[in-house]
Amino acid sequence: MTDTMKSGTAAIPAQPGPAEAESVRGSEGEEESVRRKGNGEHRMPAGVGGGEGTVESAAGPVGSAAAAADSVLSAVAGAGPVGRPGERATVRLRAGDPEEPPRYAPEWLQLREGPDAAARAQDLLDPLRIRLANQPGRAGGLAVHDLGCGTGSMGRWLAPRLDGAQHWVLHDRDPYLLHFAAVASPRSAADGSPVSVETRRGDVARLTPDALSGASLVTASALLDVLTRDEVFALVDACAGAGCPALLTLSVAGRVELTPDHPLDAEIAEAFNAHQRRAGLLGPDAVTVACEAFAARGASVRVHPSPWRLGPDQAALTEQWLRGWVGAAVEQRPDLRERAEPYLHDRLAACAAGALRVVVHHSDLLALPRPAGGTS
Ligand SMILES: C[S@@+](CC[C@H](N)C(=O)[O-])C[C@H]1O[C@@H](n2cnc3c(N)ncnc32)[C@H](O)[C@@H]1O
Repeated sequence: MTDTMKSGTAAIPAQPGPAEAESVRGSEGEEESVRRKGNGEHRMPAGVGGGEGTVESAAGPVGSAAAAADSVLSAVAGAGPVGRPGERATVRLRAGDPEEPPRYAPEWLQLREGPDAAARAQDLLDPLRIRLANQPGRAGGLAVHDLGCGTGSMGRWLAPRLDGAQHWVLHDRDPYLLHFAAVASPRSAADGSPVSVETRRGDVARLTPDALSGASLVTASALLDVLTRDEVFALVDACAGAGCPALLTLSVAGRVELTPDHPLDAEIAEAFNAHQRRAGLLGPDAVTVACEAFAARGASVRVHPSPWRLGPDQAALTEQWLRGWVGAAVEQRPDLRERAEPYLHDRLAACAAGALRVVVHHSDLLALPRPAGGTS
């Protein structure tokens, strides 16, 4: 088993090396801003941002998934859960402080980048483009804030789909991920205009409107469902204070479809959803709560489905997702363990044989504030 992303040129260590960790570290809870440095100062991890590296899953190659299933319900790097309420798709990279927030493995974020890109709702882009084109001050370029940016996949997806010069402010609490986001950031917009980035380390659940001052757009991907109701309301307040659109993609919807189906599917899904809601996290309720919060501030909100459709070509992601999904369900309901272990064994075998299809439902949300002095 390995937790390392391999290539001939670079490797991500299982734990952040001091150089990476320190490069964006500020004092706890404090936002620290780091602008992209010139070429050559950072080495890009293979594979992050669509590079050439390959991911060797923590459980070994996908072909050995069924064989590895006997230890199925232990923590698996990149697939979570690893024992903290609400953690998902997460690996704790350092042993120690149980109060340390969950950290997301870059390998997991890389695995999901392609399916995330395919899943995001294209239909929300035109209304967003129209709003951005009509924004006052547009000539100076767009200021885009990506909250919970991870390794920056949202920017790599969205920046080349928008016209005009852009400056992206990448927010995350994890300096290790911010480092990768900075080095793999997009360089040009749809029309070839330049794209620049800076990173800010901090807790996006405690963003003040000041932090988003001057923003043209706030965006996030796979973030809302790991926040609490109060945190989502605070985040919506910050967006409302900035008066800009918000595109919040890939929040879990709490529904999955596995083909072929199995009598245990529904019970696992229910336990997984309960796990996501532990400790006040919103999990599958995130989009409903965000809609409520935006509507309370007069924004118009559109929600579109953005499901992952996983088949044989996404076996590595499906394997990791299955391990995390079943593992979280068992953590939530230990009485499921006896039935869940053979269930997961069979599911992993079907996945390795190319005989499993999974649809994981998500939702994307676009909130457009009422234009100043007009109607939306
Ligand atoms: C599921 S990952 C998604 C990463 C990225 N947006 C993507 O789509 O690949 C969630 C990200 O949000 C960050 N995050 C979660 N809660 C946060 C918080 N309260 N403040 C700052 N970052 C947070 C995590 O560190 C992680 O990078």
